[in-house]
Amino acid sequence: MSDTTTSPCCGSAADAAAEGSCCAAAARTEAVAAGATCCGTAADTTGAEIREQVRARYADAAVRAAEGSRCGNGDLYGADERGQLPEAALRASLGCGNPLRVADLNPGETVLDLGSGGGIDVLLSARRVGPTGTAHGLDMTDEMLELARRNAAEAGATNVEFHKGHIENIPLPDASVDVVISNCVINLSADKPAVFAEMHRVLHPGGRIGISDVVAEDHLTPEQRGVVGDWSSCIAGALSRSEYLDGLTAAGFVDPTVEFTGAYAQGMHAAIIRARRP
Ligand SMILES: C[S@@+](CC[C@H](N)C(=O)[O-])C[C@H]1O[C@@H](n2cnc3c(N)ncnc32)[C@H](O)[C@@H]1O
Repeated sequence: MSDTTTSPCCGSAADAAAEGSCCAAAARTEAVAAGATCCGTAADTTGAEIREQVRARYADAAVRAAEGSRCGNGDLYGADERGQLPEAALRASLGCGNPLRVADLNPGETVLDLGSGGGIDVLLSARRVGPTGTAHGLDMTDEMLELARRNAAEAGATNVEFHKGHIENIPLPDASVDVVISNCVINLSADKPAVFAEMHRVLHPGGRIGISDVVAEDHLTPEQRGVVGDWSSCIAGALSRSEYLDGLTAAGFVDPTVEFTGAYAQGMHAAIIRARRP
């Protein structure tokens, strides 16, 4: 992994840089070139294996955050936002941006956060949409859901609902959501077309997306992204800018944009993605 990484994925930078480990950059480059599976980067890792690696990593992160470790990057949020949140929600902040800066939420709206983790963006959304709105969080990891529900109770939030499920098969009805947000999660999916199709399905016509994610420069092949970092560190599974725009368009979204907001790893950026359902 590059020294330039700002990965907030719990423990990833230290794990990946560990001297002599399969995850260390030099070992990874050699191993991947030889066709080996190194930290889940080889092309023949199945979707089910990727999902399990991701689940295990974030289950561990949730437990560590609940025990008091600071896993992620609460600095993505302004002082006013941090002041509204339980300490445990900030400790478990594992995003790569702040989707609420672009989601433009209004009172009464229904928001869905894909891969809601410890609940940080759900709790902030709940404040913005107010008592007449609802903020839904969706996550596949039991430990994260438990942490998020505890954080919501501590915050006294009554207009939030956390659901267990996969972002490739969202357990909400068609046209039931005004805004889909997500923070550093779509890169983790092994089936991005399914995620985009599901986002489109659950949005009302006119609904919008405001997403933070890791995005690669167009010249990096998927194999090269796998050499830069592993899947569960939010790197190997990242789409390029063109792939993101094409994927959203293929799913029926209009006016898609991908804006790079900061360096994440070699040739990879934290980005804000916007689009709307016509
Ligand atoms: C990098 S963390 C980000 C958490 C949160 N969005 C934040 O900003 O703190 C990724 C989260 O997405 C969840 N996740 C990853 N892949 C998922 C999938 N396919 N379906 C549902 N949840 C998923 C993980 O369990 C984890 O909680």
